[in-house]
Amino acid sequence: MNHQTDLTRYEEILREAPSEEPARQYYFIDALKQIISSQGQERGGQAPSCCVVTFGCQMNARDSEKILGTLKAAGYRETDREEDADFVLFNTCTIRENANEHLYGRLGHLKHCKKEHPERIIAICGCMMQEADEVEKVQEKYPYVDLIFGTHNLYSLAELLFRLFMKRQDEHNKKARERRVVELLPEAERIVEELPNARKYPFKQGVNISFGCNNFCTYCIVPYVRGRERSRRSEDILSEIRGLAADGVLEVMLLGQNVNSYGNDDPSEMSFPELLRQVCRIDGIQRVRFMTSHPKDLSEELIRVMAEEPKICRHLHLPMQSGSSRILKAMNRRYTREGYLELVEKIRRAIPDISLTTDIIVGFPGETEEDFQDTLSVVEQCRFDAAFTFIYSKRTGTPAAKMEDQVPEDVVKERFDRLLKLVDRIAREESGRDRGKTLPVLVEEQQPETGLLTGRLSNNILVHFPGPAELVGKILPVKLVESRGFYYIGQMV
Ligand code: SAH
Ligand code: SF4
Ligand code: F3S
Repeated sequence: MNHQTDLTRYEEILREAPSEEPARQYYFIDALKQIISSQGQERGGQAPSCCVVTFGCQMNARDSEKILGTLKAAGYRETDREEDADFVLFNTCTIRENANEHLYGRLGHLKHCKKEHPERIIAICGCMMQEADEVEKVQEKYPYVDLIFGTHNLYSLAELLFRLFMKRQDEHNKKARERRVVELLPEAERIVEELPNARKYPFKQGVNISFGCNNFCTYCIVPYVRGRERSRRSEDILSEIRGLAADGVLEVMLLGQNVNSYGNDDPSEMSFPELLRQVCRIDGIQRVRFMTSHPKDLSEELIRVMAEEPKICRHLHLPMQSGSSRILKAMNRRYTREGYLELVEKIRRAIPDISLTTDIIVGFPGETEEDFQDTLSVVEQCRFDAAFTFIYSKRTGTPAAKMEDQVPEDVVKERFDRLLKLVDRIAREESGRDRGKTLPVLVEEQQPETGLLTGRLSNNILVHFPGPAELVGKILPVKLVESRGFYYIGQMV
């Protein structure tokens, strides 16, 4: 068949597409199936391959599962070799500048692969593509990128990919730029449920409960690239989890930038603690985790539910960001040093075996040595099991980027090293406290190098122990024989 008749057929498919979602995407998945299967036939029956590279947080990891679900439904076979894949997609993060640099490094690397195989598809999506400057840069400097979309239209991947194939049929589009599909929405229009899904682990699963963020911490880009907070309907969340339980999933992790404000955008919706209770009622689900809790919205009710429900894991990630009330105010975190300490004390009183982890930013504009000392002293008092420490990174468009007194790099670096030392020392001391006990472990994998099994305690700490691969995906009691700082060596009992 010649190209022009093919093009007419593609145009007809596009015209006849249903307008409602997700039916529209399933329609395009069907159309893609034919295209991709004929590509496979042309090369002797092997299906074209796809590789999804994920940067950033749990939200992006979850989005990548949905992306992969669509690609597999369309007939791609998954590969982890990005240099060889017929379709490679980068799901990007832009939380700090180094995340962006990382993408450009990887893109540059693919240039020669694309030269050798011009029919390959290189796609970029995710948070970084919600920033106009970055999209412009990609379009100018990386002409070999074929497809760009953002966080708000991820659900329409099948349609966008179809349109890319259609453009390639059109002989008028000779230049790479003319064959490219770029589609970005400035705001989230809707939540599309029931799209295909490719789950990474059979026994555990992340579940979105809300998208976006309303908090506008002054350093943070997330509200700009992920949009306003939208809660999923609890019915949809619970029915998804019931389905997961029926599929053999033991552990779910509820995901939101601030899970504690779940439902605030919908007066008819239940609160987060209530949602947690309902999730715990689902038979088959044995462990429930959630991320992330903003301290300003963490309620007494949540603490009560955590204390009462044995399925809720003994771990709380409670980002502190800074121990100085003055800096917290400039960050728009809406709690004080004292407020944070009080909250931690309440939590520890109600749930004595809880493991607390946190995020801390060093070098926020205007941070003085005294402010930094305040951070160190809160770390001493809270005794976190782990603290993720970040050097402040200026994000264009955020209020903090315009603040005066950006802290000099060498000062920040020196503070960062001091903080890291303290955080490490405390984490080492704390994480050994259950040595000698026998506790349930969810086995997640067998390490290829050592053959040891790796599992996770309820409090999120890892345990390595000898055992057969068949135990992956099971919860079993393990004796914590030896503490190695951030993990245990254990023995099955
Ligand atoms: N919604 C979550 C965190 C999302 S980002 C929350 O509020 O806790 C994860 C972490 O990245 C943040 O907790 C913060 O510590 C860090 N972070 C965000 N923006 C940053 C920036 N501009 N520079 C350095 N670290 C940043
Ligand atoms: Fe960013 Fe703050 Fe929202 Fe977390 S709560 S995503 S740090 S704006
Ligand atoms: Fe990064 Fe976006 Fe997550 S900016 S941290 S991937 S929400």
